[in-house]
Amino acid sequence: MAEQGTIGGFFLGSDAFTESVRASLDRVESIIIAEVESGIEAMAAVAEHLAKAGGKRFRPMFTVVAGQLGADERRGDVEIAASALELIHLATLYHDDVMDEATMRRGVPSANVQWGNQIAILAGDYLFARACGLIAKLGSEATSIVAQTFGELVTGQLQEVLGAQGERDKIEHYLTVIFGKTASLLGACGRLAGLAIRADRQVQDQLAVIGELVGMAFQIADDIIDIGSGSADSGKTPGTDLREGVLTLPMLYALEAQGEDRLNEILSSGPVADEAVVAEALGLLAVSSGMARAKEKVADYARRADEEIGKLPDSFERAAEVKTALRALVRAAVDRVR
Ligand code: FPP
Ligand code: MG
Repeated sequence: MAEQGTIGGFFLGSDAFTESVRASLDRVESIIIAEVESGIEAMAAVAEHLAKAGGKRFRPMFTVVAGQLGADERRGDVEIAASALELIHLATLYHDDVMDEATMRRGVPSANVQWGNQIAILAGDYLFARACGLIAKLGSEATSIVAQTFGELVTGQLQEVLGAQGERDKIEHYLTVIFGKTASLLGACGRLAGLAIRADRQVQDQLAVIGELVGMAFQIADDIIDIGSGSADSGKTPGTDLREGVLTLPMLYALEAQGEDRLNEILSSGPVADEAVVAEALGLLAVSSGMARAKEKVADYARRADEEIGKLPDSFERAAEVKTALRALVRAAVDRVR
């Protein structure tokens, strides 16, 4: 039996609050499964692959917890938003795994490995179509927020592919990329939760900023985990970024450090194809000063998210519980790389 007050190992607060979040998440799960199972059989098999492989459901959890600020009758809209946002996230993973030539995701073979790139890309498109259908139920404002976020996701991913152009500072470039490819979607989770509960514009903005800060922490943590130095089993193959030649924050910080010559040499030489060198670089990175600095940066974003959570108005009925639960989610994002 699940421990009281916890969902997926996250302590969210009082039993009544946790039960309400759990009930919402169960409904979100049903909506997601109904969406991925729809359509022709050949598509359903691919589209349900990642949704059914599990995943932390971090985005729905964040959306549903933020939505607890609102009245009970708004819960249905919050759940639709949470489902649509997770479907968008899933869609991006199908495309991302094609681009990264990834072989594992959520502990199972990636869709591109199982069905090939063409089908995997179409499955991503299909999931995005289903998400749009859901979000349209929430009205034109919600739809434009998603359109804006979709643009940011694509632009973030494109900037990662292009790399830092010209004299652009590489760390600034990295932060822009992760804002686009990850923080923007968590920001949309906050904003759409606010919109769904009919919160005023200021609260919507606050929830969006909290989501963005959590998203920044979350993506740097993910990049740390790709080096194989997180506490969590990510269900992915470590070293993907090195093989792809993507310089993530621990690597960029390591490149700035003095005296880590061998690591510097490997990181400066572009994508690493030799598996022995990948293993060597991962070992060096794990104990590098760059890694320590990147972990500090994660903690810094988490601190800023906590601060913003503290500024949410206390006038909402469940404000105190929501703040506690949002802080727990921030901890959960960060504790993966302690
Ligand atoms: C994972 O990054 C990638 C993303 C979070 C965003 C991917 C965005 C797109 C493919 C463009 C938008 C596409 C659609 C269908 C909306 P990562 O490779 O660093 O993380 P990983 O370790 O989980 O693979
Ligand atoms: Mg990837």
